[in-house]
Amino acid sequence: MATFTSFPDDFIWGAATSSYQIEGAWNEDGKGESIWDRFTHTPGNIIDAGTGDVACDHYHRWPEDIALMKSLGLQAYRFSIAWPRVLPAGRGKVNPAGLDFYSRLVDGLLEAGITPFVTLYHWDLPQALHDEGGWPERSTAEAFVEYAEVVSRRLGDRVKHWITHNEPWCASILSYQYGEHAPGWRDTAAAVRAAHHLLLSHGWAVPVIRANSPESEVGITLNFEAIVSASESPADRRMTRIEDGTFNRWFAGALFGRHYPADAITHYEPFFPQGMDFIKPGDFEAIAAPMDFLGINYYTRRIVRDEAAADNWPRTRFPDLPKCDMYSGMTDPVYWEIYPEGLYKLLNRIYFEYNPPKIYITENGASFLDGPDGNSRISDVRRISYLRDHFAAAHRAMQNGVPLAGYFVWSLMDNFEWAKGYQQRFGMVWVDYETRERIPKDSAIWYSRVIADNGFTPAE
Ligand code: FCB
Repeated sequence: MATFTSFPDDFIWGAATSSYQIEGAWNEDGKGESIWDRFTHTPGNIIDAGTGDVACDHYHRWPEDIALMKSLGLQAYRFSIAWPRVLPAGRGKVNPAGLDFYSRLVDGLLEAGITPFVTLYHWDLPQALHDEGGWPERSTAEAFVEYAEVVSRRLGDRVKHWITHNEPWCASILSYQYGEHAPGWRDTAAAVRAAHHLLLSHGWAVPVIRANSPESEVGITLNFEAIVSASESPADRRMTRIEDGTFNRWFAGALFGRHYPADAITHYEPFFPQGMDFIKPGDFEAIAAPMDFLGINYYTRRIVRDEAAADNWPRTRFPDLPKCDMYSGMTDPVYWEIYPEGLYKLLNRIYFEYNPPKIYITENGASFLDGPDGNSRISDVRRISYLRDHFAAAHRAMQNGVPLAGYFVWSLMDNFEWAKGYQQRFGMVWVDYETRERIPKDSAIWYSRVIADNGFTPAE
């Protein structure tokens, strides 16, 4: 018989969302345009031509959403702030209606006994800043500090958990090198510059947030994948190392005070014939500003194959694990494998390699398309097993000493999944996109029991 797995008394159970994916109201109450507004309004970028114009209409339905969270017993809620709602042009004139919206949301959460975890940047850069060059330019990092100052000054008395950036790899490489996310560039040098300026803006913002929000915790959220080689061939192993260096180690390496990894630098150098002159003296010290926690987003495993090497050995490792309905790529889908062991390994690796004082899993979850049956019940049993197995993996890592303090399921509700539009459903709560009705799926009900019991019984 599997025995009950309990978590520490102060462990925090939450759920996560982001502004562009749920809010809608894209041009209401003085909000400025973001790069995601521009990107989704440009034909051809989003699989089903979906936009965040209305999304889950959370901007108008937030009281109902807080009530929903309360009914599920959520202890914390991670959401992001739309920069162009607060500073429509990215810097300069503040839009009071935008700040008021988030202030009301924070008050509502606190009244419901739910701790707000605020992400400052979950990808919706003001279009005005992009028009000046966006993240490849250092001036955008400076604008971010102004934005962090405005928000933390207003909310810092009540918000005590701050995440500067969500997944800088996505905000830089996926957006400026692979072109899958806004602004849709395909320029490696611009992507690497963007990555540097995102990190720099984080480091500069940390002391500003601390000053405005005493006794708060400040950190950043990185995404990691369990990256493994498709064979033991030298070509696949070389490629795997590059992927791990540019995806996993680039960001953590700089944040924890060690410079960018040498192998990743060597990989990027050919894109900078004049040298990496965008890295200025003092930048690494700024980026490595001490943090209170590291946020980790984990979803899947990635098997890396050097498809170009002529003399490569046969592939020995295949994507043979069960998959969820989400996939990477736009034309040649690689479905996300379900690999809880990867979370266990990752937590150990991150802790023992970088030694963050505290870790939160700021996102973990899966897309399954199960919808309502005739009785409006959504029996998403695969999501329940996904979560249960990942919770168990996290718990095992904690037994090794990994200082995991909380877990945020992605996502509270179905929402706009970026380039994949509305074709993915990551929510524990179903959203009907015609009526905007919310229905808790079976996973939400299961999760509320995990929270109430502060634990669960693992699979046999
Ligand atoms: C992460 C994003 C989040 C969501 C999930 C599925 O990369 O941070 O917004 O789209 O993936």
